[in-house]
Formats: sequence, C-alpha cells, structure tokens
Amino acid sequence: MPTALRPDLAPSPRANAASVDDCRLIELPRITDPRGNLTFIEGGAHLPFSIERVYYLYDVPGGAERGGHAHRALQQLLVAVAGSFEVLLDDGRRRRRVRLDRPYRGLLIGPMIWRELDEFSSGSVCLVLASQCYDEADYYRDHAAFVAEVL
Ligand code: TYD
Repeated sequence: MPTALRPDLAPSPRANAASVDDCRLIELPRITDPRGNLTFIEGGAHLPFSIERVYYLYDVPGGAERGGHAHRALQQLLVAVAGSFEVLLDDGRRRRRVRLDRPYRGLLIGPMIWRELDEFSSGSVCLVLASQCYDEADYYRDHAAFVAEVL
C-alpha cells in the first residue's frame, strides 16, 4: 500500500486541535422597530469572551481579499453589519466557507483557525469584536507554517 494511503502513517491532528466545525454562527438579539432595527452585543452574554478590541473593515474594493492569517490565542466575532462577504475557514485539515449577510448574525472564530475574507459586496462593513488587543506576535501569516503547527 502506498505510504500516503496508510492510515497508521497519516499525520494525526494534535489533541484538542481546533476544528472548522467549532466556528459557529450565533444569532444576535434584534429589536425590530418601524423606525429601524437595533442589534446589540454584550461581552459575556453573547460571546464566550470579554471584548478587548473592536475594529471594522470598510471601503473594501470589489475583488479584494482580507484576512489570510490565523491567530494563536485570539477569539473573534465577525458580523456583516452592512452588505455581505464570505469567510473561508481552514483548520489545516479541512476547509469550510461561510457567508455573512445579516447584521444580526455573527461568526465566532477561535484560535488556530486560518481565515480568508472575500466576495465583499459594495458598501459592506465587517465588524470584528476581539478578545485581545492587537498583537502581531499572535498571528500566523504563513499558511504552510500554520499547517505545520496544527498537524
Ligand atoms: P490585518 O489583521 O492583516 O488585516 P485583515 O486581517 O483584516 O486583512 O491588519 C492589517 C494591518 O492593520 C496590519 O498592518 C496591522 C494593522 N492592525 C492594527 O494596527 N490594529 C488592529 O487591530 C488590526 C486588526 C490591524
């Protein structure tokens, strides 16, 4: 049997390895009103982490891609507060695509998940709530290095 097909020699994921299946969509509260709808997010209540940082992507040109990295420890919630975009999730073994297109739905992404954002609609805004302040040392920016770490 060729080596590549022998399950006993195939690389096995590390114990407690992050999985794309752990990234989940959460429904946020919606206060509907004829004057306009309102959604709120409270750290602890709606998120499994306290919010240390908020940032947002906007004025994204058609065809642009953002992300292209993983984080060692950071947890994030992504929300398409305007328009839509897609998120490619990659745990080093499997990939999954999620489309975000509602301001009351968020995508939770934990540590050690590679993510790429694309297919931004015109005028879209990606709001990100993060569990830690910005720290470049928390990033994997090289996909091969990320995969080598998780497998
Ligand atoms: P990056 O995280 O690579 O952006 P994205 O994943 O959305 O494509 O960050 C782009 C640049 O912005 C990089 O130089 C770091 C800087 N930056 C900060 O200074 N603070 C932040 O909170 C974030 C998210 C990025």
